[in-house]
Amino acid sequence: MATGLCKSFDGIRAVDHVEIRVSRGSITGLIGPNGAGKTTLFNLLCNFLTPDQGRVIFDGVPISHLPTYQVALQGLLRTFQVPRVLSRLSVLENMLLAAPLQTGEKLWNTWLQPRRVRQEEQELRQRAWAILESVGLAAKANDYAGALSGGQRKLLEMARVMMHRPRMVLLDEPAAGVNPTLINQICGHIVRWNQEGVTFLIIEHNMDVVMSLCQHIWVLAEGKNLVDGPPSEIQTNPEVLRAYLGQ
Ligand SMILES: Nc1ncnc2c1ncn2[C@@H]1O[C@H](COP(=O)(O)OP(=O)(O)OP(=O)(O)O)[C@@H](O)[C@H]1O
Ligand SMILES: [Mg+2]
Repeated sequence: MATGLCKSFDGIRAVDHVEIRVSRGSITGLIGPNGAGKTTLFNLLCNFLTPDQGRVIFDGVPISHLPTYQVALQGLLRTFQVPRVLSRLSVLENMLLAAPLQTGEKLWNTWLQPRRVRQEEQELRQRAWAILESVGLAAKANDYAGALSGGQRKLLEMARVMMHRPRMVLLDEPAAGVNPTLINQICGHIVRWNQEGVTFLIIEHNMDVVMSLCQHIWVLAEGKNLVDGPPSEIQTNPEVLRAYLGQ
């Protein structure tokens, strides 16, 4: 899905001619030591950052030139390493605001097409409730998002992404700082969404999570591709061990 991607900050190559491929329908892992360039690569894939060089192709279509919201409309969504929820809005409001292309966003449509706007709103609410119920957050729907635990915020961010009916989701450290019970639940939701047809690319330092979820893993170190392969190979690869031990 990407070739030859480069991005420098103040002359330092954070991402240096990186390539990555993610098969449709897979759960793919992206690992590497701190500062390896994983989050920067995510930013390049979604065009949160413009690459200095290289191309991103999603489902056969070049997307490097598209603004982020258009990348999202193509079906490619991401979550953040530090979850970005709107703390002073309720959990349900966070869900409703995530939904793309609402007719009622254009003021004149609330006058010209009031029935359509009402119907859309109702459908969105139903969808939001259904997703919240499926991830176990329905009981918190009316709480401030800011009152959620760190793990629940990560879950809410994923639930918001699901409002878009994504084709592919990039998750930046979904298990970091999350308690083991919630980690298991989050993994269960990822597997379920994947079975429903969503492709995942996941950055994660928790190796149990990566090894159990992913069919294929890409390893970055110091901004470059190190190796890629199935979990069993990556786990025992001496180059990967060396990169993590900093030798
Ligand atoms: N906006 C920025 N400005 C300057 N330098 C940056 C910026 N973003 C990232 N970097 C640098 O780029 C390199 C890669 O950072 P990145 O956040 O992509 O790593 P990472 O693999 O996600 O690490 P971690 O596992 O700690 O999250 C680091 O050296 C980092 O300091
Ligand atoms: Mg990161």
